[in-house]
Amino acid sequence: MYRTHTCGELSLQNIDQEVTLSGWVQRSRDLGGMTFIDLRDRYGITQLVFDLETNSSLCMEARKLGREFVIQVTGIVRERSNKNPRLATGSIEIEARSLKVLNASALPPFTIEDETDGGEELRMKFRYLDLRRNPMRKNLELRHRMASETRNYLDSKGFLEIETPVMIKSTPEGARDFVVPSRMNPGEFYALPQSPQIFKQLLMVAGYDRYFQIVKCFRDEDLRADRQPEFTQIDCEMSFAGQEDVLETFEGLAKHLFNEVKGLTFEGPFPRLSFDEAMNRYGTDKPDIRFRMELVEITGVAKGHNFPVFDNAQYIGGICAENCASWSRKQIDWLTEFVKKPQIGARGLVYVKYNDDGTVKSPVDKFYDENIVRKWLESFDARPGDLLLILAGDRIATQEALSELRLEMSRQLGLTGEDDYAPLWVIDFPLFEWDEETGRLYAKHHPFTSPRREDISLLDTDPINVRANAYDMVINGVEIGGGSVRIHDEKLQKKMFDTLGFTEDQARKQFGFLMDAFRYGAPPHAGVAFGFDRWVAVFAGCGTIRDVIAFPKNNSGRDLMIDSPSTLSPEQLKELGIRSGNDG
Ligand code: AMO
Repeated sequence: MYRTHTCGELSLQNIDQEVTLSGWVQRSRDLGGMTFIDLRDRYGITQLVFDLETNSSLCMEARKLGREFVIQVTGIVRERSNKNPRLATGSIEIEARSLKVLNASALPPFTIEDETDGGEELRMKFRYLDLRRNPMRKNLELRHRMASETRNYLDSKGFLEIETPVMIKSTPEGARDFVVPSRMNPGEFYALPQSPQIFKQLLMVAGYDRYFQIVKCFRDEDLRADRQPEFTQIDCEMSFAGQEDVLETFEGLAKHLFNEVKGLTFEGPFPRLSFDEAMNRYGTDKPDIRFRMELVEITGVAKGHNFPVFDNAQYIGGICAENCASWSRKQIDWLTEFVKKPQIGARGLVYVKYNDDGTVKSPVDKFYDENIVRKWLESFDARPGDLLLILAGDRIATQEALSELRLEMSRQLGLTGEDDYAPLWVIDFPLFEWDEETGRLYAKHHPFTSPRREDISLLDTDPINVRANAYDMVINGVEIGGGSVRIHDEKLQKKMFDTLGFTEDQARKQFGFLMDAFRYGAPPHAGVAFGFDRWVAVFAGCGTIRDVIAFPKNNSGRDLMIDSPSTLSPEQLKELGIRSGNDG
């Protein structure tokens, strides 16, 4: 037997028992005639004591142990004189009687502590060592618990977990596909699913009216803190269900997870914002509503006073930072540089200080009478001591820049607490978006998303203003999931393809099997998919989803540990009928 107990479970109740533990050497200290070793496993840390006086050979052996050696120790549980209240096992220690080295360890390239000295790249290269650290272990435990509670909840609601294939053909989520060459069909490729979208709709046609799957999805897109090339979705679909059914069922899932995993209860339904309202009030379709500081438009009262920057703008608006009128020139200059960063794209920042004594100060004083500036203050409901931060330009771009500024101000002012969660639904998304580069409409969600019934007549005349039966769940400014009611009517689907500029042939080539299936009695259906990694990261309070994935890829899509992607041998390439780009 390697162990009688784990390193996390012994307490005063076990005093004087003989126990055997196995684990890794976290650290060792020699203090006079004693050697103390912290032994670690998945469950915790237990202190071992080796006494030079009573057992010198064993103590000398213990002094030879290095960090991360794997050992087995038998000894007697004793009460500690110097208790450590921060450790679950801090009231006891093991007086060692025998020691066996199960395996030696090379010196680890970074310290395996909660706060490590290893940079992220090094930690990713030696991921198996990084995963020994407490914060990573806790994240993976949280992930397991959330997956397990998701299954419990959906099972209790009659959902079946059904697997769908990974080697398929192009799916309609709008990113680039990862592809797999087919040796048996030279020159042909499988695509890896960007999501199981088409299969879950086919399962609805097949009569499996409540489906879910915790499933890997693959998208070849630019990576960020909240995007991985392979990531996990909680993918769901329901038949004989509309938008309300989906929102209600999955709000239930969110409440279940909040409750079971975080011990938090939410009373009443989650707030709902239309896409337009979210953009107007927060400048983003994934607003963080834990704090207010909402956008206020002042185009009407700010235009037409010979200040060219404002007069030429389509939109003028800003945010009101409470109690920030005393901010220094340096702080405001920093904010100006922040909004001018290329990824934010504002051309400048106008501020108005509403001083504590009621006076007003702004660099645009010379263009505006004080009573006009006071009208702006009124629009913002500002009070003495507040600071207005105003941007101007094209409507959407300026709202988006204000959203970034709003988030930055909340970071600087510490407006959000750690265990503070604000979930909401964003609904009524536009059905299409216009792409300037290609000069055509694209489906904002995917081409099977149903328009709102009252907007169908606009498909011919004003498609850009057609709203979709599509929805996103947002928690703390993170898009956790999204879905839609699907089109199940052949004529409407055809109309949708027409509007998107797909010829009949193109539509058939890409989605013919789905169109065929829909001829055999497709039930009304709707669904949603949640980004599982994002959800876990939000619950864990992590800034990147990499910290909740056991073996993630870096921002260049590389797995640094196994060194992938990598080249193939000429023989492999030949067999696949592929000439590598490196061959010239
Ligand atoms: P969508 O494309 O919105 O919808 O994806 C659903 C959710 O998946 C997460 N997500 C990602 N997470 C990590 N890395 C990525 N690269 C990544 N891309 C997306 C997000 C997102 O909200 N088939 C539809 C769903 C449906 O209509 O039912 C779909 O995949 O949290």
